[in-house]
Amino acid sequence: MLIAIGSDHGGFGLKEAIKKFLEERTIPFRDFGTYSLDSVDYPDISRAVAQAVAGGECDRGIILCGTGIGVSIAANKVRGIRAALCHDTFSAQMSREHNDANVLTMGERVIGTGLALAIVEKWLATEFAGGRHARRVEKITALEE
Ligand code: RB5
Repeated sequence: MLIAIGSDHGGFGLKEAIKKFLEERTIPFRDFGTYSLDSVDYPDISRAVAQAVAGGECDRGIILCGTGIGVSIAANKVRGIRAALCHDTFSAQMSREHNDANVLTMGERVIGTGLALAIVEKWLATEFAGGRHARRVEKITALEE
């Protein structure tokens, strides 16, 4: 599984921590920036990650900002993206099992690194349950038309 990862300046520290976490587990990723603490506009990063996932270049995406809200709103504008803002492991699990979320967003100014890494671990390990949930996800996709 190839992960697309990105953040604005508000999520930069958390992005770097998640990259280290992925490296330690030999999970491949592509870093779409930002590459420093200099101020950038989060929709630009969100678009790059979301398009990589929607286009099939990467399998799933993780995007960080100060709150996780802006990057989530922006990513969900890209056709084919189901971005879930999760600040607890239960939501992370459900976003995969029920919603087949293909992008995870979090806010560095909201949660600590330990919890964020636990959320990433749960989110990456959880598969979509399918069944009745597949019908509902299809209805989400239909809203894009
Ligand atoms: C940047 O200051 C901040 O607005 C951004 O990281 C994010 O929280 C937006 O939703």
